[in-house]
Amino acid sequence: MFPAHKIPTSGNPLIDQQHGRLTELIRHAALAARDTDDAAPFQQALSEFRRALAHHFAVEKVIFSGAGFDAASGHDQAHTIILGHLDADLAAARDLSTVQARHRMLEKLERILLDHEMLEDAAYWDAVRAHSCRPTLKWTELMVIGIDWVDSHHRHMVDLLNQLSWAAQAEDAAACARLLRDFLDLARRHFAAEERYLEAQGKTPSHHRADHARMLSELDQLAAAADFGPRILVEHYLRFWVMEHILGIDRQDLVE
Ligand SMILES: [Fe+2]
Ligand SMILES: [Fe+2]
Ligand SMILES: [Fe+2]
Ligand SMILES: [Fe+2]
Repeated sequence: MFPAHKIPTSGNPLIDQQHGRLTELIRHAALAARDTDDAAPFQQALSEFRRALAHHFAVEKVIFSGAGFDAASGHDQAHTIILGHLDADLAAARDLSTVQARHRMLEKLERILLDHEMLEDAAYWDAVRAHSCRPTLKWTELMVIGIDWVDSHHRHMVDLLNQLSWAAQAEDAAACARLLRDFLDLARRHFAAEERYLEAQGKTPSHHRADHARMLSELDQLAAAADFGPRILVEHYLRFWVMEHILGIDRQDLVE
């Protein structure tokens, strides 16, 4: 029965939950592999694994770069390579009609997952754990971009994030929903303003715009999934999301 090993806990419940989901999807695929009369369930299970792995890598990128790892972009490249290899394996495996061929494919999936998660990701976990223990995000000089209106929006974001964190700790669902809505409204307005600003400066904001679009769609996806409560979303994802935006993307593109 797949998988034979367990991925150790990372200390971030969101990452751990996704590792659990990926493990479960391999197990589903192993069950679907037994049905050799109909290839559709097995193919479907493989596509679902591929989708979940891409989503997991996107979430992990936000958390690792938000936690301040300069090496995170190299790690993101490792994710791209893994997805590329997986796509090549899936495309090359034309004949998955036998149980043996299917099990060879499942072994590959399991190896991809375990090699990456245990050897490459584990290096980041201690620092992610240290960040996740702090319930509030402190504004520091490092976050100052040097453009007044941008800094004021960012401070407002950090402030809303902390209010959300307190509401989540108090288990005040109504306040969480209202604050999350306010946060997303602010993020959308702020992103649009930054893109107009970059354009007015004669810079091409396409790369920055794509980063904003990616960040919003991932956040929408996670906020819409009812798999975990607002506390996990705020303390184990949103704080990294805010840091990735300010310390990573903006510091790189907005500061002269
Ligand atoms: Fe992972
Ligand atoms: Fe990773
Ligand atoms: Fe910004
Ligand atoms: Fe930005």
